[in-house]
Amino acid sequence: MALIDIPLLMKDAARGKRSAVTCALKCANQCAAGPCNHSDNPTFRDIASSALTRRAVLGGTGGALAIALGGTQGALADPGNGNGKGQGIGNGKGNGKGGSRVPAPNGTKLLFEAIAPVDFEVDEFTVPEGYAWHPVIRWGDPLFDDAPDFDWNAQSAEAQKRQFGYNNDYTEIQEIPGSNGKRAVMFVNHEYTNENIMLPPETDEGELIEIGMAAHGLTVVELERKNTNFPYSYVQGAELNRRILLDTEFELTGPAAGSDLVTTVEDPEGTTVLGTFGNCSGGLTPWGTLLSGEENFHGYFRTPGTSDAEKRYGLADKATARNWESKHDRFDSRNEGYENEPNRFGYIVEVDPFDPTSTPRKHTALGRFKHEGANVILAEDGHVVAYTGDDEVFDYLYKFVSHGTYVEGDKAHNMTLLTSGDLYVAKFSGNSPAAEIDGSGAVPADGSFDGTGEWLPLLVDGESTVPGFSAEEVLVHTRLAADAVGPTKMDRCEDVEPSLATRRVYVACTNNSGRGTAGKASADEANPRAENRDGHIVEIDEQGDQTSTTFAWNLLMVCGDPAQGDTTDFSGFPVEQVSPISCPDNLAFDAVGNLWISTDGAPSGIGYNDGLFRVTLDGDSHGRVEQFLSVPRDGETCGPIIRDEDRSAFVSVQHPGEDGAWGAQLSYFPDYDEVGPKPSVVQVLLERGRGNSKG
Ligand code: FEO
Ligand code: CA
Ligand code: CA
Repeated sequence: MALIDIPLLMKDAARGKRSAVTCALKCANQCAAGPCNHSDNPTFRDIASSALTRRAVLGGTGGALAIALGGTQGALADPGNGNGKGQGIGNGKGNGKGGSRVPAPNGTKLLFEAIAPVDFEVDEFTVPEGYAWHPVIRWGDPLFDDAPDFDWNAQSAEAQKRQFGYNNDYTEIQEIPGSNGKRAVMFVNHEYTNENIMLPPETDEGELIEIGMAAHGLTVVELERKNTNFPYSYVQGAELNRRILLDTEFELTGPAAGSDLVTTVEDPEGTTVLGTFGNCSGGLTPWGTLLSGEENFHGYFRTPGTSDAEKRYGLADKATARNWESKHDRFDSRNEGYENEPNRFGYIVEVDPFDPTSTPRKHTALGRFKHEGANVILAEDGHVVAYTGDDEVFDYLYKFVSHGTYVEGDKAHNMTLLTSGDLYVAKFSGNSPAAEIDGSGAVPADGSFDGTGEWLPLLVDGESTVPGFSAEEVLVHTRLAADAVGPTKMDRCEDVEPSLATRRVYVACTNNSGRGTAGKASADEANPRAENRDGHIVEIDEQGDQTSTTFAWNLLMVCGDPAQGDTTDFSGFPVEQVSPISCPDNLAFDAVGNLWISTDGAPSGIGYNDGLFRVTLDGDSHGRVEQFLSVPRDGETCGPIIRDEDRSAFVSVQHPGEDGAWGAQLSYFPDYDEVGPKPSVVQVLLERGRGNSKG
């Protein structure tokens, strides 16, 4: 019997954009249950203020521009790196659209001609002309000297614990000091598992549960390359390699650690949690550690489902998709002694990839919700500021400001900074008349979706600022505390990424098909489209002071496919010159400050596979979107890393072929071996005239 009964799970799934399987396995059908946020926060009100127009506040600066390669790269070639797995340069299906040969933004060395969007049924990884793609590591690849090679027909939990996990999402690569650019350490999280396509149906059900558990968690792995002309490959048995698993001890830090809200029979002190799951995006700290967001943790617990707190987080009395509760008491909080176990998930975790013996930590000071991830920037005065979104329809955007300040070179001190600070939640106000925000997505008469905002305090100087909530309650039941202060209900905040070049902050609101529908919050200027299928990007400007409690904002783009008649806006850039884009998810910047966006959900929206896109932020081409790559069928594009100097970019390909089934697979990425797909981290690299890798 199959452990995961997809047809049964899908009965109450799949509203809006996502694949039904994604709904069931990633988010536990949260959309079908309706929004968790039933608070009646004040709906958006027009505020006729903000003397600052978008152009005045956020206008471009012009700047030196280089000439793009266009189609001039000619026949390029295979690095011949010896891994034998490098793939060809594109699928021959496109490069017709978007090839406008306009100047490359800000002098970046990563030059390319935008690819055409790729139909959602195509099981290919597509890159621009002149580039090749190379899998760096795949699900099941052995990490340690004693780890077995992956075998589709003989997988075990013990093997999986020593191998790369499933559904790689957030990805970051740091050079190992002293390695002369040849060695790096990569951090990857593994958000969830697709048991329906992973292994043969005859796999023992109990063992499949344990395999699935072992395929969650985190991986640290060393990479090596010959030089920048060659792709990275991972190093089996390297010193820093590490799996963080469901039985790995995490230290709970911050004001809620040790509180009565987080104790269990196994941890009466409330300070040590076993494992992490549902990890989505993340961020790199200035001191070299990685942050990762525990997102859809509710899908792993069966609970009484009766309290306001449980309901607000989607925790319910129903069997979970993976049925871990059948084997491990802690995943059923109806069991005596485990009532608080769900309160120990939903945090930002921090991992030091350079110390394989370090204890990873969960920081309660950044609050508990469905964290997409967290990204930090140092304020001018040295305080560490973290931006973090709650990825659920009609939930909120948060900011954390550390009490302590950064000390260059003092890693031990800097690793304390996320344990204590002030926590805020965002309220957006627009400057256009409410009548002009009609839900169509049409830009108002002042030319912009824009306005001002406030960071509303939840916890300041260690004290709760929310009536009726203790400090511990603010940090464990953060959604309920936030409801009480009236923040703006957003269209699913995914990555929130500050630009180190301009200090502006970018928020990917991925979509919200319930916006403006019966009984739900209507469109507002920060979320201006009813039934928002394609999402938008908010640009926040705190005028250089990241500790400020006020800000200006505007929408960088309202996504969609203009060619299909979608009402879109790209900061006024001509819509016929942009690559169509839908469901922005993860964000990154290149070395010269261009924004890069990876998407999740485009296939069921605009009908194209998900991809990675560059957005010009400065100069006359402000708002121009160019598609760089497209991932295979059913895959989500995650964890973008842009390396201009190397003419390279990395993405994690998550859940390729997830609408398939064993024996009826829809993807065979990346090896195309006719067995099944493997989520993988991929490097895309400019080829430099060394033979042809095609075929
Ligand atoms: Fe795991 Fe918010 O996407
Ligand atoms: Ca406006
Ligand atoms: Ca995401």
